[in-house]
Amino acid sequence: MAIFLDTGDINEIKKYFDMKVIQGVTTNPTILLKCGVTGGMEGIKRRTIEIANLIFPLPLSVEVTSNDPEEMIKQGKEFSSWGSNINVKITIHGPNGELYNLRVVNELETKYNVRVNVTAMMSAQQCLLAAMAGATYVSLFCGRVNNMGHDAKKELALTRRLLESHGLNAKIIAASTREIINVVDWLDAGAHIVTVVPNFLEGMIVHPYSKETVKMFLEDGFKINT
Ligand code: E4P
Repeated sequence: MAIFLDTGDINEIKKYFDMKVIQGVTTNPTILLKCGVTGGMEGIKRRTIEIANLIFPLPLSVEVTSNDPEEMIKQGKEFSSWGSNINVKITIHGPNGELYNLRVVNELETKYNVRVNVTAMMSAQQCLLAAMAGATYVSLFCGRVNNMGHDAKKELALTRRLLESHGLNAKIIAASTREIINVVDWLDAGAHIVTVVPNFLEGMIVHPYSKETVKMFLEDGFKINT
């Protein structure tokens, strides 16, 4: 089981990478934009290589910026050439339900040896088919699933059972964290990996009662030493 960091912020990645509490990083165009990446493909390339080198050999997922099949293949091949730990994110289908994405996933995985993270998925059935198409990772957007009134934990458990009973090796990434409790809940429900925003990781570590206890130890230690 693993925790990935869901950010493009170098300082946050370095902080948690140095603690050894993360085992990978995920990004998407929205995250990169929020983290100040500009300058087109050159900007994406610079930040991607910076993160990939920083966390090497841990995996980094980077998403293509087009839904044209040929362009997705081209970007997928290019992104993965920037570092041996770079995986490529392809959405389950296009913005209007276009169906060629899983063909692209299969081609990248089998023809070009690119590890693919199939993303923007909201159900076990989508994850099953993405895994059948050969994806290395299947990303279930659990926070968004819950927001739509469905139970992400049930969907995670079903996805895990389906992958295992069909001998599919894809790793399930639970994404779209909305609350700190999501991390342990989703790992417990069947996710291999949860990708977490940095402030939730801090929230997992820092506890008000731990602060109070640490203060007590330090104050009493000071008294012993004086
Ligand atoms: C990670 O792989 C996803 O891109 C990310 O968790 C999506 O999060 P959001 O639903 O908050 O946009």
